[in-house]
Amino acid sequence: MSASNDPVRLAGRLRAALLAADFTYDRVAQLLGRSAHEALARNETTPALRRTTGGGPLETLVRLFLLQTVVDLAAAEAALPGLVDRLAVEGFLERSVGEVAARLDVRPYAVDGDDLWVVSDLTPGLDGGPNRVGPDHVLGISAASTSLAQLTIREPVGRSLDLGTGCGVQALHLAAHSAAVVATDVNERALRLARFNVALNDLRTPVEVRGGSFFEPVRGERFDLIATNPPFVISPPTGEAAEPGAREPRLVYRDSGLPGDRVVEHIVRAAPQHLSDGGWCQVLANWIVPAGGDWQDRLADWADPECDLYVVQREVVDPPSYVELWLKDAGRHGAADYAARYDTWVSWFEEQGIEAVGFGWINLRRSGAAQPARELLEWPYDVEQPIAPALHAWITAADRPVDLDSHLRVRPDVQQETLGRPGAEHPETVVLRQQRGLRRARRADTVEAALVGACDGELSVGQILEALAQLLDLDAADTRERYLPVVRELVAEGFLET
Ligand SMILES: C[S@@+](CC[C@H](N)C(=O)[O-])C[C@H]1O[C@@H](n2cnc3c(N)ncnc32)[C@H](O)[C@@H]1O
Repeated sequence: MSASNDPVRLAGRLRAALLAADFTYDRVAQLLGRSAHEALARNETTPALRRTTGGGPLETLVRLFLLQTVVDLAAAEAALPGLVDRLAVEGFLERSVGEVAARLDVRPYAVDGDDLWVVSDLTPGLDGGPNRVGPDHVLGISAASTSLAQLTIREPVGRSLDLGTGCGVQALHLAAHSAAVVATDVNERALRLARFNVALNDLRTPVEVRGGSFFEPVRGERFDLIATNPPFVISPPTGEAAEPGAREPRLVYRDSGLPGDRVVEHIVRAAPQHLSDGGWCQVLANWIVPAGGDWQDRLADWADPECDLYVVQREVVDPPSYVELWLKDAGRHGAADYAARYDTWVSWFEEQGIEAVGFGWINLRRSGAAQPARELLEWPYDVEQPIAPALHAWITAADRPVDLDSHLRVRPDVQQETLGRPGAEHPETVVLRQQRGLRRARRADTVEAALVGACDGELSVGQILEALAQLLDLDAADTRERYLPVVRELVAEGFLET
């Protein structure tokens, strides 16, 4: 996209054309039908091509922008009246005699039921085509974007920050529940596209797009919420930082140029200075799992001791799988230098003592509490999406002290599973399992299971423990001492609610 002289006017005209053609998320999903829509999400266009042969404006826009098919000039003019030449000048389209092709991706999106559109670079690798992209490629809405969007706590806030905005997708989400949004990036093309997307969507919330690295464009400013999907790929130094000769071009959308997981460390260390009291920073991240070390210790060490810290490690990947994933993402698989690049990267992992790479969510809150809450959890299992409400409940639970006078309730979605030999009188194992949120599970002994079952808000924790001690012939004081910490864990993990 060129540095257009009047992007706001163009955005308004494009928006009107997209609306007139009904080019919205729901209408496109309806037109394609489930299986073609899902195939397209896997980068396969054939089923969608079969569903878009009618020649109407909606079909034309789907073929042009989502399926990257050449369309007739007349059909393009009908779908984008009076805009084809202007969009060609601005780099959205390429026009040849009688035909038009897309040079940027224009994609319908929906946030809280509002129809939005996102312009980004074209999705590479459709139908198994080459995956190679330029160093300043601007990603569209990726699986990682969606993952962060589902993680971000959607409470109404004052100011929010989207660090590394790319095409601006997180800023669009933040605009739905913030009074004002700042979005930053180092990539000039990303800044232009993000600004265009803000104008295209005619947002009620002011969104300011600023250029600069990490927190530099917001020096001295504070936010209630920071959401970031930073360029977190863990690799040897690239670009300028690399040795001449071993220089790997830096793909700015995924690679900060900093070695290892320094980019994530930098964000975690710097974020608290940009958070207002009670403010949140939510980071989608990769981190190093050191050989013979502990990933939890490393991450806990980065976090300001005055902040709450909640980390969920969702996946652990060994070095070869990691290197393959990202070399393929860069379109290097099968290239003449593939094996050499692979070897350099895994050797570097070995030299650095990196055993594996963790992938997950880092959540920091500037709580100001005397004893900030901390949990670094390994949880690779299926969770309910969006996960943000569960995260929010997790943190809120930490704010409420629990003692023997507390009246608690078992969360409505908690189920008890009993396991044992067929016909056995008593189960060998009792498991409490959440059906919602993180879907945590924990083994419970007889007292714990009975205690959870008795928590209906009527009796206090002390009264329940007293009754159980009597029933099971246990010492009342010992039972209190042993099970009050268990009750606190049950609340912190969301099995019981205050
Ligand atoms: C993985 S993309 C995320 C894009 C978008 N926020 C999303 O969620 O899909 C990372 C973004 O960070 C930007 N970036 C890279 N280095 C940066 C830096 N030093 N400071 C700020 N942004 C940076 C890239 O240009 C890219 O747009």
